[in-house]
Amino acid sequence: MDKIIVKGGRPLQGEVNVSGAKNAALPILASALLADGKSVYRNVPDLADVKTMLKVLETMGCGTARLTGRKKDVCEVAVEGPITPEAPYDLVKTMRASVLVLGPLVARYGRARVSMPGGCAIGARPIDQHLKGLKALGADITLTEGYVEARAKQLKGGTVNFDVITVTGTENVMMAAVLAKGRSVLENCAREPEVEELARVLNKMGARIEGAGTSVITIDGVEALNPVEHAILPDRIEAGTLMVAAAITGGNVLVKHAVPEHLEAVILKLRETGCTVTAEQGGLRVKAPKVVGSVDVKTTEHPGFPTDMQAQLMGLMTVASGTSVISESIFENRFMHVPELHRMGADITIQGHTAVVKGVKKLSGAPVMATDLRASASLVLAGLRAEGKTEVQRIYHLDRGYERLERKLRNLGADIRRVKA
Ligand code: EPU
Repeated sequence: MDKIIVKGGRPLQGEVNVSGAKNAALPILASALLADGKSVYRNVPDLADVKTMLKVLETMGCGTARLTGRKKDVCEVAVEGPITPEAPYDLVKTMRASVLVLGPLVARYGRARVSMPGGCAIGARPIDQHLKGLKALGADITLTEGYVEARAKQLKGGTVNFDVITVTGTENVMMAAVLAKGRSVLENCAREPEVEELARVLNKMGARIEGAGTSVITIDGVEALNPVEHAILPDRIEAGTLMVAAAITGGNVLVKHAVPEHLEAVILKLRETGCTVTAEQGGLRVKAPKVVGSVDVKTTEHPGFPTDMQAQLMGLMTVASGTSVISESIFENRFMHVPELHRMGADITIQGHTAVVKGVKKLSGAPVMATDLRASASLVLAGLRAEGKTEVQRIYHLDRGYERLERKLRNLGADIRRVKA
């Protein structure tokens, strides 16, 4: 297994490009199933999770679903021959987001058989809201042998009021409703920029969706959709992670392509810590003091502070000048970075869903183990600040969601390298 070795202490300087958004690419790739023909996507990040989604599509019979182009950021998905509407256990167990094929399959092919995703490291993560939404559109849902089977000759428009705000649930049901007969109204929807981006792509394909990015989405079903060409929006979580990298090292970095409107909560928190964050030249510049101040954070759905930035912000707070209270309200088990940060000298106490972080003067490098994607990022960030050598193991978690992070950080002056297994 590859590992990352970081020697901390260098303030990051320079410019860095943000790649396309993982959590937009995954539903958008799944949406290719909704139209016959070849869709072409650009700015697709070269990530393990994207490769898994392409494999899911290829297993079903989609053609040429792979990353090409000079930056390996172009991806074509061709729906030409027959499609087997099934996502097998072996793929779904490696990536829960494979469940995003459920909505498109039942809408377009009248049948879907998708392995039920189990819990994952950060929480139980049920999909009851996805199923509730599909049922409201007339799908018949059964659970057998670990698989969800959804059937409907023709989905019909309906009203769905989500009991829980869910990102992929909103996306799945939206992708089903675009081909349903009549109007669907989805209430209490996720408002993440990735939901809005998916709606933008579906509308380019000929769908009639209004309200994406707000909590009520109205969809008038159409008979058929066309393939599409689209460049995927920049990854706000990668951007936020690079901004924290600047902050934790006392650096000065221009994060190019970061979209300020997508990062408002993160920008406000970084400013509260004493960093200067300014929009310039199509990106965001972060200038950090030597020691940041402490801030309290509660993760909530967009536009609140994203759970996907909680671990990274906690990394920053381990070396802040005071005490910070960090509450996680989205996932029940998203503090797995804490014991690893302890090994580097952090002072963190967990009380239920809250972590109390007392800033320390210095972290010291240590061998640590990544447990999930964002936890891995926080350990790399802590390593950039720590005295001595940090060795981050199990970085396959990091590779699921960050495109060549160590290269980007090295170009900013970090002493960081990947050691191949
Ligand atoms: N939930 C339910 N029932 C459902 C669906 C969700 O109870 O049917 C609960 C979940 O258990 C969780 C909360 O609702 O407590 C929110 O989960 P959500 O469904 O919004 O999460 P998701 O769609 O599975 C996406 C991102 C995650 C990100 C969350 C929250 C993708 C592919 N994944 O997951 O990204 O943390 O939204 O913003 O879009 C990551 O990139 O590291 C990552 C985990």
